[in-house]
Amino acid sequence: METAALFLLVLFFSIGITEAVYKQWIPDTNFENVSNWDERRVPCSQDKVIFPGNKKVSVYVQTTHSLADMNMPWDGEFILAPGAGFSASAEVDPECDKGSEIHFHDPGQDLWFDPRLWHAALSTGDLNNGKFIFSVDAERVPCQFDDVIFSPDTSFQVNFKATGSTIRLKSISVLGKRFTGDEEFSQHLQSNTGRLQFPGPAAIHITDVACGDKTGCECGNTGVLQVICSAGQLVEKTCPKTPCKTPLSPVGHCCKICGAIITLDYTSDFIFDDYRNRLVDTFLSLPQYSLVKLAISKVQKQQRGLAKIPHDSSTEIQIVIIDEKNGSPTGSDVESLANDIMDDLKTHGTSLGISKGTLVTSSGSLTGDQVRNRAGTIAGIVIGVLLICVSVPGILYFLHRAGIVRLSYFTQLFMRNHHELEEECETEQKGFENPIFEADVESAQDTPGLYSGEEALKETIQKQSGMQFSNPLYDGSQCDS
Ligand SMILES: *[C@@H]1O[C@H](CO)[C@@H](O)[C@H](O)[C@H]1NC(C)=O
Repeated sequence: METAALFLLVLFFSIGITEAVYKQWIPDTNFENVSNWDERRVPCSQDKVIFPGNKKVSVYVQTTHSLADMNMPWDGEFILAPGAGFSASAEVDPECDKGSEIHFHDPGQDLWFDPRLWHAALSTGDLNNGKFIFSVDAERVPCQFDDVIFSPDTSFQVNFKATGSTIRLKSISVLGKRFTGDEEFSQHLQSNTGRLQFPGPAAIHITDVACGDKTGCECGNTGVLQVICSAGQLVEKTCPKTPCKTPLSPVGHCCKICGAIITLDYTSDFIFDDYRNRLVDTFLSLPQYSLVKLAISKVQKQQRGLAKIPHDSSTEIQIVIIDEKNGSPTGSDVESLANDIMDDLKTHGTSLGISKGTLVTSSGSLTGDQVRNRAGTIAGIVIGVLLICVSVPGILYFLHRAGIVRLSYFTQLFMRNHHELEEECETEQKGFENPIFEADVESAQDTPGLYSGEEALKETIQKQSGMQFSNPLYDGSQCDS
């Protein structure tokens, strides 16, 4: 009986769990790390070593060092690896020259919420091999179902800077010991080492709970996005330049990007891990995409344009694609990868548990058949509205011609429309614009004053009219005349 229950439990977890992500803290306070010293070198025998007098610090020492002198930290500890230690130097090391005062850097600057200070990978092996995954800023710092790792042979210090919110984690590993519950971890926090590693109020809740939804789980950092952005100095002033025409704002990202965003509506058949692996195996591993970065995660559905969000499906899968060179205009690699993914969805979407895919790109300068507007429903609605708008005068004109309707008002109205369309033809011929609708609306929303409300819609409909739609009464030749 018990075995059966256990078996069911195991079965349940093995089918319902999404792969964990491992997040590893990058900075350390190791004695041997050159970036911890103001002279960017490890102290040698003639040096006078100075630790910040008013700071607390834990320092991991890997080997023996002979030094001329040392000012100890106010409160702190040295964690000595086997065989490591300090000695006062007797002999003169020719390589050390005269020696100098060498200062240890202030470790209090490294913020937990700084996305630049974490590596993310799908396994510890990947972490060690430098095979990191790319994600939006909110997910670069630990998420609620992540395993957090501080490298075994390192000392470190994390500044939490009061945020008021509790940090939820699956597990946390410190100095090679993995904590999966609050009780043991709070014991560690109270130890001398723990207090030096995590000074200040750290509201960490360790759950030992993995993401139990095979369609994926939200990271859970939406509430601290602003904290993350300012910790990472990813605010408007410091964001990289976006030289593309219509920069995009991915959900959970601090800065606008040049690239592409695909959003997916999923069904209960969707399996997050499988789809991510499919993207990596089928597309990302191709040599032509070696410089392209792709982030995929489940995020809160955003209100886009006119579309109303039904209450029952409040999340969607977001895929963000950018070039390795952040800030460069949308490269053709990004475009073609995005199109490859959309093509794949057309044929396999249903069997993958994906009911809809929407692609938005930031490039405004595509030409020819590369232009494939897949902005989904909203474009659909607009074209639909347009069809109605144009077909009413169209039908009236037809009826008028047939002698059924003789209303000069309608003729006038129609003639005016005709005139506008002609104008549109001219402008379309002079300068080509990529009518990716969502991007237009987004930028319209972001820059109030440029377009607003109805105007933006009208603008877009006109653009669509020049591009997408041929009026059966006025064929393309009118534009050529
Ligand atoms: C030294 O510290 C820097 C910054 O804290 C870190 O990026 C780097 O990986 C460390 N170097 C080594 C060899 O661990």
